[in-house]
Amino acid sequence: MRLEAKSAIVTGGGRGVGRAMALRFAAEGASVVLTDLDADHAEVVAAEIVAAGGRALALVADAADAEDAERTAREALAAFGRIDVLVNNAGLAQQHAEGTELERWDRGVDVTLSSAYRQSRAVVPHMPGSGGAILNVSSIAGNRIGTSAPWYDAAKAGLVGLTRHLAVEHGRAGIRVNALCLGLIETRRTAFIHDDEAARAQWLASTALGTVGQPEEAAAAALFLVSDDASLVTGQILVADSGRTIV
Ligand SMILES: NC(=O)c1ccc[n+]([C@@H]2O[C@H](COP(=O)([O-])OP(=O)(O)OC[C@H]3O[C@@H](n4cnc5c(N)ncnc54)[C@H](O)[C@@H]3O)[C@@H](O)[C@H]2O)c1
Repeated sequence: MRLEAKSAIVTGGGRGVGRAMALRFAAEGASVVLTDLDADHAEVVAAEIVAAGGRALALVADAADAEDAERTAREALAAFGRIDVLVNNAGLAQQHAEGTELERWDRGVDVTLSSAYRQSRAVVPHMPGSGGAILNVSSIAGNRIGTSAPWYDAAKAGLVGLTRHLAVEHGRAGIRVNALCLGLIETRRTAFIHDDEAARAQWLASTALGTVGQPEEAAAAALFLVSDDASLVTGQILVADSGRTIV
């Protein structure tokens, strides 16, 4: 088990990629705190982990809110006594952004980028002297492709810069910080890929592997980066995109 005796926080853990990470980390021995805006989904995932013999705590928390970030750290410590791993996974989907263009910019950057800074800031003082790991879930929009909403492209690229900064700042405290740049992963935010044959065909044709990623595949890549297997890896991005950005 690759996360034996460790404790991990996954933001946005109620669905999609975050859910898959929470389940996989728990299966690898971690106690998992999963936060989400949606209480029902978070509770269901926590119950699934507990039913499988693992340890989990579901919290309702807005990843963009600084007080919620502090509360998440406090409750994780109270429940499991330590915080070894933080995954900043929560992010606003483009289709779920509401309001005027400027309101969408503010909320999008807040939920996608500032959230990672706030949650990291809340957690870092409590991480152990070695073996701590932070993972920021970015996107190919953050390292190569600029065709999404402006706030999405900017926030995901910002996460890559934040990753490098935090890796330098906290390296000597034994904390590694990396980013995972995902391509198309089949979740509710990409549900169009089920119904829109043309969009699916276009994606498949534009990747080296000719696949749409599954949340479990994203979780497997995340597991490597947060586990001690990646003990030499910090300040890096791992691109998990079916080879989209090399075609
Ligand atoms: N699915 C993809 O194709 C894809 C591609 C690239 C990057 N990503 C990134 O992966 C991450 C997860 O995406 P997903 O596809 O699993 O999304 P999803 O919409 O399926 O799930 C996101 C979860 O985060 C929660 N959430 C949203 N805003 C939140 C907030 N402010 N605070 C706490 N929880 C919040 C939602 O309630 C939901 O449970 C995101 O950062 C996304 O940008 C996804």
